[in-house]
Amino acid sequence: MRILVTSKNGQLGRSIQKIVNTGTKIDNNQSTNDFIFVGREELDLSSESNISHYFGKNKFDIIINCAAYTQVDTAEQEAELANQINHLAVKKLASIASNQQARLIHISTDYVFDGESDKPYIETDTPNPINVYGRTKLAGEKALQTVMPINAIVIRTSWLYSEYGNNFVSTMLKLGKEQDELSVVNDQMGSPTYAADLADAILEIIKHKKFRDLGQTMQIYHYSSKGEISWYEFAKEIFKIEGIECKVNSIPSQQHPTTAKKPKNSLMSQDKIVEVFNIKVSKWKSSLNTCMTILKQKK
Ligand SMILES: NC(=O)c1ccc[n+]([C@@H]2O[C@H](COP(=O)([O-])OP(=O)(O)OC[C@H]3O[C@@H](n4cnc5c(N)ncnc54)[C@H](OP(=O)(O)O)[C@@H]3O)[C@@H](O)[C@H]2O)c1
Repeated sequence: MRILVTSKNGQLGRSIQKIVNTGTKIDNNQSTNDFIFVGREELDLSSESNISHYFGKNKFDIIINCAAYTQVDTAEQEAELANQINHLAVKKLASIASNQQARLIHISTDYVFDGESDKPYIETDTPNPINVYGRTKLAGEKALQTVMPINAIVIRTSWLYSEYGNNFVSTMLKLGKEQDELSVVNDQMGSPTYAADLADAILEIIKHKKFRDLGQTMQIYHYSSKGEISWYEFAKEIFKIEGIECKVNSIPSQQHPTTAKKPKNSLMSQDKIVEVFNIKVSKWKSSLNTCMTILKQKK
């Protein structure tokens, strides 16, 4: 099986790469898996001709698309570029995967929802994005569903962090060490997702019979950690684990205006992915501890 993973320098791409490099979880009884990781140097998703050119020379059995335009605030000014990467490139990938008879795993986001629900979102809830990033990601999902009604899955995740790149954990660690006091919003709720946990889940899914059987209708799944917290509580726990003595003030979102509107509720139910693929879902606090232990070892 030749498996392509896009975004070799992104949080999720690097997390998959780390597991693959340890040699665990990647083969099953039926086949040996050969993973190919690419970044924008090899496969620039902002150019349709580049995408065609790349796949004209390369064929795969599975494509895992972790690449995306992920700068939520900047997307408000760069809507065209965000749309190209999060929507049109996904449409193109779906068409290529379909022609190559490959299966496609595409990563999406809770930002397809408006966050107004008072319950964790399930896969059949009606999307209603409230910012450009969410709209482009939803357009990508819809294009995929149209072009590739079989052999594809979408995994929506939320609040992704890892030991790589810039994310809430790395930002808080930096600011907490520089400042005596910080204000963090308390009215946006979610469940943080450690990218290594999601990477594990993806590698479990590609080994699963229910994914490997061709001809199945495209499905959406939700994946995040277990538990419910605000960004404020997340920041407090990061400082507690690290022993940082920075005072955290709890503030409402109105006191922290951002370019893009953010959903109040990012919680997603993991019931479907657990039931179908028997995926283990960790509690957010234990995954955060794992990530921060790895960060400490890297120092
Ligand atoms: N981060 C979150 O909180 C979050 C929450 C919910 C869902 N998600 C979704 O989860 C997935 C993984 O997110 P992540 O946090 O791992 O993302 P990330 O760390 O921000 O990485 C995004 C990757 O996309 C690549 N990329 C951007 N433009 C590209 C282009 N034109 N051609 C090729 N590659 C391009 C970037 O390449 P460079 O390294 O070269 O810039 C980067 O490696 C994405 O689909 C995202 O929408 C993320």
